[in-house]
Amino acid sequence: MGGCVVSNVASNVETIEAGTERELQTMSGFYSDIVAPTGVYKYYLNGQWLESASGKSVSIINPSTRQTCYEVQACTQDEVNRMFDAAKAAQKAWARTPLWKRAEYLHKVAALMREHAQPIADCLVKEVAKPAKDSLTEVVRSADLLDYTAEEGVRFLGEGQLLNSDSFPGQQRNKMCLVSKVPLGVVLAIPPFNYPVNLAVSKLGPALMAGNAVVLKPPTQGAVAGIHMLQCFHAAGLPAGLLSLATGRGSEIGDFLTQHPGVNCISFTGGDTGIAISKKAGMVPLQMELGGKDVCIVAADADLAAAAKHIVKGGFSYSGQRCTAVKLVCVVDSVADELVAAVAKGVAALKVGMPEDDADITPVVSESSANFIEGLVMDAKEKGATFVTGEYRREGNLLWPVLLDHVTPGMRLAWEEPFGPVLPIMRVASTDEAVAHCNASKYGLQGCVFTRDINAAIAISDAMETGTVQVNSAPARGPDHFPFQGFRDSGIGSQGIRNSLAMMVKTKSTVINLDQETYTMG
Ligand code: G3H
Repeated sequence: MGGCVVSNVASNVETIEAGTERELQTMSGFYSDIVAPTGVYKYYLNGQWLESASGKSVSIINPSTRQTCYEVQACTQDEVNRMFDAAKAAQKAWARTPLWKRAEYLHKVAALMREHAQPIADCLVKEVAKPAKDSLTEVVRSADLLDYTAEEGVRFLGEGQLLNSDSFPGQQRNKMCLVSKVPLGVVLAIPPFNYPVNLAVSKLGPALMAGNAVVLKPPTQGAVAGIHMLQCFHAAGLPAGLLSLATGRGSEIGDFLTQHPGVNCISFTGGDTGIAISKKAGMVPLQMELGGKDVCIVAADADLAAAAKHIVKGGFSYSGQRCTAVKLVCVVDSVADELVAAVAKGVAALKVGMPEDDADITPVVSESSANFIEGLVMDAKEKGATFVTGEYRREGNLLWPVLLDHVTPGMRLAWEEPFGPVLPIMRVASTDEAVAHCNASKYGLQGCVFTRDINAAIAISDAMETGTVQVNSAPARGPDHFPFQGFRDSGIGSQGIRNSLAMMVKTKSTVINLDQETYTMG
């Protein structure tokens, strides 16, 4: 909930009036229902956009200007209760809605998201300082994800299994087991600030397709993008109650949501909070994507120019605020100088500035995040790491990209994820040493290896204890139908469209017991 401020709802019209012309136009059209006359964005319950009875709002701080850019409702626990009641009631009928019809709804949402993409993207630029082009890409990627989920869901969820009893020793043929996939019930979806749209849709799509209802708790930074996105689900005509959206203070509704008796599954993406959630969740299936310390191993025979290109993109896109960002390069000594020079050249070419101008490096999400990153950099500096691309520089939440060479295991940057534009380089004697470092981390999300030797690549992939290993490319979650999972503190369960569909159902068996005499004798 970093950067949020709670206040009483006075007239917040100024927040809207201070917006762009495009924002004002969208408010009077497709998106007119989502904002109250006070200027505070509404929450969503029972097919309606509403103002909270709390009379309070939460401010969203623009990371670039450090000014309030939006206000959202501070929902109450009672409103959350009503979301779960509505979800439970609506889910019963939704579970009986034919698969092809659920797929039709998702395709409709996808089409609406494409049609109304720009205002959603504009919110991402303001709320989370995502570069303008990447913001639009996130929305379009999400629409594509929904279309694919609808198609995959029809195929995957439509398939069951029939088992005959006589395949087990000593059994006759009189029992038939029909195995089907049935919904879990109500899914609580909690996406992170860095993909408030895409990582919301990657939970909502599979959950709804599988016949579940969803309560969505968007991140505070990114909530308004999430509200705009949800309007596309609303406009597609999804049954009232099936989908709700709660905004508010973590202290008021955080634990209340995650420990609510109405929750039948939690799908969470974020940081260490996920570990606390999982400890308190009880008998509820969990899909968790948490942090990562994605190690990039560069072998002596690697194509260094290509590796450097991937490392710069992997380390610095969206200013390093991706769980799959390259967070540590382990390069074999013999080629370290050449690699560092090539990476430094790429880093020097990065444009630093504002998200509206499509800069490569934009302000990080909050002041506390910037302070944390600074702490990691200073720790490395004090312990002898060298700055390759000039001295450390910061203005507000904007940090100039930092490339640190000669990082050692004694430094925090060897183990902690900065989630910012900071790339540490550790020189190693061998790829074995790099793999050992990777496996000693508490994280195990992704890793990558650059080598021209496919046998070595596979051996290194086998040895790296991470959910995914990329060969000759930087870590990445997409394409969105690929399985995506973290080991150790990086997560529970697997994502990717098919795996998420599988996660959102439980197995149900119906055993038909035939009359043994009639059936087996005939
Ligand atoms: O931040 C976590 C995301 O799952 C990373 O996704 O690899 O598409 O940037 P990405």
